[in-house]
Amino acid sequence: MQLLHLFGALAATVPIAEASWAKNINYRSPSEHHPGLGVAVHKVVKRNNPATTYGASNLNFTHGVASGDPYPDSVILWTRLAPMYASDASNASVSGYVPLYNHNDNINVSTGPVCAQYKVAEDQNFTNVVTSGHAYTSSDVDYTVKVEATGLKAYTTYYYQFTVCGSTKASQIGRTKTTPNANDAVTSVGLAVYSCSNYPFGYFNAFGNPARKDSVDYVIHLGDYIYEYANGDYGYGQTIDRIPMPDRTIYTLYDYRTRLATYRNDPDLQLSHETFPWIPVWDDHEVADNTYRDASSELNNTEQSFVQDGGVSVDQRKMNAVRAYFEWMPIRQVEMDDNLRIWRSFSIGSLFDLIMLDTRQYDRSITDLYWNTHYVHQISSDAGRSMMGSRQENWFYNSLSSSASRGATWRIIGSQTVFSRINESVAYGNVDPLDYDAWDGYQSNRNRTLNHLYSNNIGNNIMISGDSHASWVSDLVWLEDHPYDNATGAGSIGVEFAGSAVSSPCPYGQNISLSSANNYSRWLTDANRELQWQDLYYRGYFELQVGHDQLNAQYFGMPTIVTRNPYEISLANFTVQAGANKLQRPVAGGIAESGSLKNGIVRQTNYTHNTDNNTYFVSQFNQEDL
Ligand SMILES: *[C@@H]1O[C@H](CO)[C@@H](O)[C@H](O)[C@H]1NC(C)=O
Ligand SMILES: *[C@@H]1O[C@H](CO)[C@@H](O)[C@H](O)[C@H]1NC(C)=O
Ligand SMILES: *[C@@H]1O[C@H](CO)[C@@H](O)[C@H](O)[C@H]1NC(C)=O
Ligand SMILES: *[C@@H]1O[C@H](CO)[C@@H](O)[C@H](O)[C@H]1NC(C)=O
Ligand SMILES: *[C@@H]1O[C@H](CO)[C@@H](O)[C@H](O)[C@H]1NC(C)=O
Ligand SMILES: *[C@@H]1O[C@H](CO)[C@@H](O)[C@H](O)[C@H]1NC(C)=O
Ligand SMILES: *[C@@H]1O[C@H](CO)[C@@H](O)[C@H](O)[C@H]1NC(C)=O
Ligand SMILES: *[C@@H]1O[C@H](CO)[C@@H](O)[C@H](O)[C@H]1NC(C)=O
Ligand SMILES: *[C@@H]1O[C@H](CO)[C@@H](O)[C@H](O)[C@H]1NC(C)=O
Ligand SMILES: *[C@@H]1O[C@H](CO)[C@@H](O)[C@H](O)[C@H]1NC(C)=O
Ligand SMILES: *[C@@H]1O[C@H](CO)[C@@H](O)[C@H](O)[C@H]1NC(C)=O
Ligand SMILES: *[C@@H]1O[C@H](CO)[C@@H](O)[C@H](O)[C@H]1NC(C)=O
Repeated sequence: MQLLHLFGALAATVPIAEASWAKNINYRSPSEHHPGLGVAVHKVVKRNNPATTYGASNLNFTHGVASGDPYPDSVILWTRLAPMYASDASNASVSGYVPLYNHNDNINVSTGPVCAQYKVAEDQNFTNVVTSGHAYTSSDVDYTVKVEATGLKAYTTYYYQFTVCGSTKASQIGRTKTTPNANDAVTSVGLAVYSCSNYPFGYFNAFGNPARKDSVDYVIHLGDYIYEYANGDYGYGQTIDRIPMPDRTIYTLYDYRTRLATYRNDPDLQLSHETFPWIPVWDDHEVADNTYRDASSELNNTEQSFVQDGGVSVDQRKMNAVRAYFEWMPIRQVEMDDNLRIWRSFSIGSLFDLIMLDTRQYDRSITDLYWNTHYVHQISSDAGRSMMGSRQENWFYNSLSSSASRGATWRIIGSQTVFSRINESVAYGNVDPLDYDAWDGYQSNRNRTLNHLYSNNIGNNIMISGDSHASWVSDLVWLEDHPYDNATGAGSIGVEFAGSAVSSPCPYGQNISLSSANNYSRWLTDANRELQWQDLYYRGYFELQVGHDQLNAQYFGMPTIVTRNPYEISLANFTVQAGANKLQRPVAGGIAESGSLKNGIVRQTNYTHNTDNNTYFVSQFNQEDL
């Protein structure tokens, strides 16, 4: 609160330079109101003499530009403008800040302010700049710059660019788009939906393709944007020659910054950030594997693990991860007083509300940590268990209700893990046959959600989810409570589209053959009535085209991710008619490219990889009735 008053007092008499520091909202990351969690701007200002501002010749835009969390009248713009490529090594803390001398570059990494100018226009030539300004950055926030461009028009495409203040040295030109006003009758909006981008496992081709096709308006990332492992430490599969820096398990602020910086090197990830505004949330690996409120699979909340992890406690590690995430991602802090809060929602005209949950870090009850799977199975129906915590649960149910009562056609719900019940005893065995780290481990939370939808008659619900490294398309059902007819879809309350990984390996084996993967998929669609299409084989993503009358989903698979390439395979297309609350029959038009489609045909196009020029062509066409 002290800091809040300080900001308030400054506002009236604030010198221009100080306002420009505060304009970089990363100094408030993750919290303006908790001095230990943000950076005290007045201390930064004292330490930095504007006369010593770095000149353009000493600075580079090291990681492109990005935009995100669009509103009808504003959007977040991001860049990094730094005197060195490396992330700040000081593990900055507000108190006891020690400037660090970097021997390699012969600079004091914690001194010298950097000034970035930004401008926004409706055209790429910036003939009519609609808003502009400047903001300072410093090593305290890893030289990241995050500003809110305000005063914009709804549902409008804008171009933006950063320059070094007083210089012509410029960043790439980014493109972004505001959202429609809540009541605008916008007719069609496209989303690309991602999860599980694991840098050492392959190139992020999936991120680049919608930019190359210019096929969507906004990008959604449901989490696992980075992974915390040292190269080779991941449980299964072999990595390619892309070392995620620093090459060790990450714990400190410096570690998380450096890891994010490595990932942001991928050219297709940069291309996506430059082309589309993003709306991301985190899953577990932005902090550590299978995190929940109090710990994670490889970090018990004990003195022993505290010692083992070099004195970084569970909470410190989480705060390091969260702070670096807010520094590097083009997102807002919806509520500064709730420093772990990332759950938030967006009204996209009268077309839909996008409700982005945090089922992971915020307030999740104990999860499957591998050594306690059976225990979590046994308690998976406890009424007190929550994936979100009661504060977020209440907000979630209220958001669903207010979305329906304001008359938005669809409710699109971003969930980290798969919502539908999935019997995977073929992989896990019969004793503990479900994924207790997903909603299957939190059955009362899922029931409360379904109960809210059914008892309030809230329809047109589209659940989108990630985490599983595989594709799952299901009618959204409450099996024991509402009779469900898997032939017609009658009885369901919406649809779940769960997407595969950008690059994380197939959970049924990294090098599984297509036919073996499809056999497992067939087992899965047989064992789960509501599961209409399943694919394990392909890494990829999906796109949603949302209209008032119908919503279409297109799934894409990457033929290979061991090279950077623009190829993709159309795996399956789905339609949901407004008011139907189920997948349109025949599901996927009765044909999919891969996996298992209930009551449908899986054709397998023979794509031949030409290694000379790295192209793919269709050499023959098989039809395989599964
Ligand atoms: C800026 O980028 C250029 C070109 O890549 C490079 O030569 C130069 O060393 C970089 N400067 C700094 C300060 O990182
Ligand atoms: C910050 O953390 C890194 C990684 O553990 C360590 O190498 C470095 O010495 C730390 N810096 C400071 C100033 O403590
Ligand atoms: C780094 O800062 C120290 C004082 O903290 C100063 O003595 C030294 O000259 C600075 N070095 C460089 C390269 O700026
Ligand atoms: C933008 O500038 C380019 C190159 O100067 C020019 O060819 C193009 O016509 C301009 N576009 C507009 C909309 O002014
Ligand atoms: C998958 O194949 C690659 C390339 O042959 C190999 O390096 C890797 O070890 C294989 N992965 C597994 C899990 O067998
Ligand atoms: C955490 O505690 C459990 C139960 O004592 C143990 O089996 C597991 O190995 C521990 N994990 C770590 C990373 O210390
Ligand atoms: C969830 O709802 C189903 C159907 O009403 C019921 O059979 C089951 O016991 C419920 N489970 C929990 C944990 O509430
Ligand atoms: C319904 O699902 C069950 C189990 O997956 C399957 O045996 C049955 O054939 C399905 N019926 C229809 C009409 O799809
Ligand atoms: C999972 O599916 C298998 C095969 O259909 C079946 O034997 C088993 O009982 C199912 N388990 C659960 C918990 O539904
Ligand atoms: C999905 O739809 C697109 C566009 O209509 C089409 O080109 C593609 O072949 C379809 N994919 C499948 C698997 O049917
Ligand atoms: C795919 O095409 C190649 C080249 O035409 C051929 O050698 C191969 O047998 C085909 N594979 C299948 C499964 O049809
Ligand atoms: C790649 O090489 C194959 C075989 O030489 C050729 O048929 C194809 O047209 C080439 N594709 C491109 C895009 O150059």
